[in-house]
Amino acid sequence: MKYHIQSFGCQMNVYDTKSLMGLLNSAGHEFTDNLDEAEMILLNTCAIREGAEDRVRGRIGQLKRFKDRGVLQYLGVCGCMGQKEGRRLTDSVSFLDLVMGPGAIGNIVSLVDRLQAGERPLIDLSGIDDYFDEIPPVETDEITYPRFVSIMRGCDKRCTYCIVPYTRGGEHSRDPRIILQEAESLVQKGFKEITLIGQTVNSYSYDGVHFANLLEMVNDIPGIERIRFATSHPGSATRDMFDAMAGLDHVCEQLHLPVQAGSNRTLKRMKRGYTREEYLEKIAYFRSLFKDSDIPISVTTDIIVGFPGETEEEFEETLDLMREVRYDAAFMFKFSPRRGTPAAEMPDQVDEVEKSRRLDRLIKLQQEVSKEVNQEFLGKTIEVMIERVSHTLKHGTTYEARMRTGRIVKLDQDSKLDQDSKFDQDSKFDQDSGQHQVGDILNVAVTRCTSYSLYGEPVKEEEIYVA
Ligand code: 5AD
Ligand code: SF4
Repeated sequence: MKYHIQSFGCQMNVYDTKSLMGLLNSAGHEFTDNLDEAEMILLNTCAIREGAEDRVRGRIGQLKRFKDRGVLQYLGVCGCMGQKEGRRLTDSVSFLDLVMGPGAIGNIVSLVDRLQAGERPLIDLSGIDDYFDEIPPVETDEITYPRFVSIMRGCDKRCTYCIVPYTRGGEHSRDPRIILQEAESLVQKGFKEITLIGQTVNSYSYDGVHFANLLEMVNDIPGIERIRFATSHPGSATRDMFDAMAGLDHVCEQLHLPVQAGSNRTLKRMKRGYTREEYLEKIAYFRSLFKDSDIPISVTTDIIVGFPGETEEEFEETLDLMREVRYDAAFMFKFSPRRGTPAAEMPDQVDEVEKSRRLDRLIKLQQEVSKEVNQEFLGKTIEVMIERVSHTLKHGTTYEARMRTGRIVKLDQDSKLDQDSKFDQDSKFDQDSGQHQVGDILNVAVTRCTSYSLYGEPVKEEEIYVA
């Protein structure tokens, strides 16, 4: 059967989609990108905020016409929204055939068999609290980044706003031997960079192996160039972890450490388990490890505004923390009450207009800081890895590259060089022509910037000044 899967939400979902594909392909089903020929479409969904669920509901509505046309036989919802909503989804959408959660991925082939035998609707919310190892993702030879390796799943932190512990269950770390096997096989296939993922990667713990130990093991894989990870919890961010980031040459200098709020009273109601002062102390320690080096480092965060009971004063404390830390970038959200979480039931919910006002102020402040941070790169030479190559008639060959810190740098140096070379004017991403290939690591000089992007030109080897 031909099937299609669309992913919403975080990198865990991207990984889960590849696991679903691996299982479906080995049972003889065939992935297609062409929705007109798909006999089954699965939406791998996110439930983190109302907006994420609204997008999925909109998509389900759009797909009805494919069912009406007759080729599409089965429409399913997987992932976090499937787990959270369960039967409510099939009760409200009559043309939905399957609802399942992240724990039921291992059952996908038998669920599809049952659909094909005429059973519907099917609901499988099992498995989120069972122990099972992550199902390896589908094998593909194409080298694209980011490439994820799951190291743990679920979460035990239970922040009062968060739906994830209910949709993905408690924390389980994977056996480090399996993680290493998966990472080694990717490196052997030509991947130079891998990203270790999990809900709170730095809580990783398996038979005495902690996150810093795991970083050391992955760092030792011959041929690996760059290791990233996401996302970390400040409560589990130890000095060992920061020391490993500074001391291991392949671990990138990229710290995403979501603070969520700058006020201790808000942090307490969120049950984050740390104070503003403890958080700031950790950031200061991390930065201190690089104070005598020219290597760029990056600190980024997530912030929620309008958490129940957040006063103007508490919000000001968040603004103040943002000014103090000067993040390279921040993901900023309005609090979205999730049914079943403690925060959804808390008194003094902040009204939407006020949440929007606070979000606007926060975004404005971060834009100013991001621009200033970007301007500090002007004229500097930095190491990047090419992630995308595109050829268009208008712009010639252009590249999207990434610094070790995770920041994107756009390069357009090949536009003149490539004017005479052949390229297909319809293909946007032809990764085989041009001067550089995906995965090339090179030095670039930063020539201009905006709040969001850096632009640069490759530096010829002879131009690099070695002190
Ligand atoms: N409302 C708004 N933002 C949320 N996040 C998690 N739950 C909620 C919620 N209920 C944000 C947090 C988290 C990021 C992935 O999403 O900032 O770090
Ligand atoms: Fe969304 Fe969280 Fe589920 Fe990822 S784990 S899909 S962010 S709800």
